[in-house]
Amino acid sequence: MNEQVESRLEAVRRYHQRSKHRLDGFAAGPGRLDWATQPEPFRWFEGAPRVELPLVADGLEPSYRDLYQQNSITPQPLSLESIAALFELSLGLSAWKQSGDVRWALRCNPSSGNLHPTEGYAIVPNVGALSAGVYHYLSRDHLLEQRCAFTRDALPSNMLLIGLSSIHWREAWKYGERAFRYCQLDCGHAMAAVRYAAAVLGWSVRLLDGWDDESISRVLGLDRTEDFAQAEREHPDLMLLVDTTPAHSTALLPELLQAAADGAWQGQANPLAPYHSSEWPEIDLVAEACLKPLTPPTAWLPPPAQPVPQQSGCRLSAATLIRQRRSAQAFDGETTVSVSQLYRMLDMMRPRPAVPPWDLLPWSPHIHLLLFIHRVDGLPSGLYLFVRSDEAEAPLRSALANGAFEWGRVEGCPEHLRLYRLLHADTREIAEQLACRQAIAADSAFSLGMLAAFDAGLKQGAWAYRQLYWEAGMLGQLLYLEAEAAGVRGTGIGCYFDDAFHASLGIEGTQFQSLYHFTVGGALVDQRLDTLPPYAHRNAKL
Ligand SMILES: Cc1cc2nc3c(=O)[nH]c(=O)nc-3n(C[C@H](O)[C@H](O)[C@H](O)COP(=O)(O)O)c2cc1C
Repeated sequence: MNEQVESRLEAVRRYHQRSKHRLDGFAAGPGRLDWATQPEPFRWFEGAPRVELPLVADGLEPSYRDLYQQNSITPQPLSLESIAALFELSLGLSAWKQSGDVRWALRCNPSSGNLHPTEGYAIVPNVGALSAGVYHYLSRDHLLEQRCAFTRDALPSNMLLIGLSSIHWREAWKYGERAFRYCQLDCGHAMAAVRYAAAVLGWSVRLLDGWDDESISRVLGLDRTEDFAQAEREHPDLMLLVDTTPAHSTALLPELLQAAADGAWQGQANPLAPYHSSEWPEIDLVAEACLKPLTPPTAWLPPPAQPVPQQSGCRLSAATLIRQRRSAQAFDGETTVSVSQLYRMLDMMRPRPAVPPWDLLPWSPHIHLLLFIHRVDGLPSGLYLFVRSDEAEAPLRSALANGAFEWGRVEGCPEHLRLYRLLHADTREIAEQLACRQAIAADSAFSLGMLAAFDAGLKQGAWAYRQLYWEAGMLGQLLYLEAEAAGVRGTGIGCYFDDAFHASLGIEGTQFQSLYHFTVGGALVDQRLDTLPPYAHRNAKL
């Protein structure tokens, strides 16, 4: 291994250790929130020409179930309306909440602390009112800002690219050093949100995993220091290819780089706060260590053949379900889910060709679930392990070195789902303790910790650290939607005691590491909050 590769890996491992929450202390954070520097939730580019997007999601008919039936949705042609729908159902607002004089927006994609560090971009060919170029999406008003006007088409007419970037400071303002992890998880949620929205339009999405961060920066204009003079910088995350036909088109990086270099750039990024009372150099270091170089794209291997998954019982339209997704703030401690609903959720976590969201990723699963089952009808309470890929079973068995574990196959569980009962016990108290003492991990039907094959993942390079979180965030987005479809609700859990969780499983070393937790159950809704429609304000503003 060359010296630079090794020192980057060392930096990532160091960050990972120091950003852990421990029973005797949290990862370094600001301590108290400085409200004077609370980040502006929206980024815009002053002076960039704006294209208002129509609000079309109400008219989209596919049901949530249709997303999983191959060829049941006729692909929509690429148009201003279909691009508008893609954004409305992925990064668009879903509601405003109000308490007294305070109002805050919720979006289709969730975010740790509702801080939304993820920014979205589209690179489009000439489509109606949109001329070829690079656009930034402003979710507040559901519009596209033209950052770069290309002098010629750089993409075929059947596809567009969606680029994602993160403003780390937005998240670090509240969470300090652990914020880099949350930015990556949020990015994973956003990726899956784009995938589900594209599925509603009959489109496919692939991660362009060979692209390097420097090129993504150049194509999206994130490297243009002059356009971010007073403003917080954005870090390149990834590029997604959205295909409106089954043609599996490719986008040529050199052509796009040239189009961006020759194009006319416009707009100045808005500063998110008047000043910063704290900076987090450890985040800059890990971000630098994780920069991705150009790599050969991963070969797309078809996932192993497996039975068709059980259908969702949900009858809602996909557009309704996606926009009603919310995080539960508290659970009722009563509501159960059925064991078949749980199996359906687990089954959706196994990649299948042309089934969202996993057909977006070229790699086989790195992340497995440790489940705290509290209230699942037909499944005794206890600790369970769900192994998402067949080859991960042996390493997991050797890493989970807790002698008390039974490793019993669950009676009645479909054969292809590798679900094991480790312990028959009431795990509510331990689940709550491990989730930074949050009651949401105990009052739900079940909660879980995601275990990543950490050392194996990092073998590719330090940059793969981010990809592990993206996969975890995608699992989270899947659980949010599947929970809504099952008539219950989910909440992501970024706050958990990392090594206490590992120790409870007998895990030593870093072969497996927990990167995200989640909880699903019957939500208690805070009746004191008013809910307002997402875009009622729009006409007044534009
Ligand atoms: C990565 C991530 C971590 C989160 N961690 C927690 C958590 O530890 N505790 C909690 O109550 N909510 C957590 N949430 C939920 C967010 O607070 C919620 O998504 C945000 O307030 C926006 O609300 P919404 O999901 O209803 O749109 C998390 C969400 C994400 C995406």
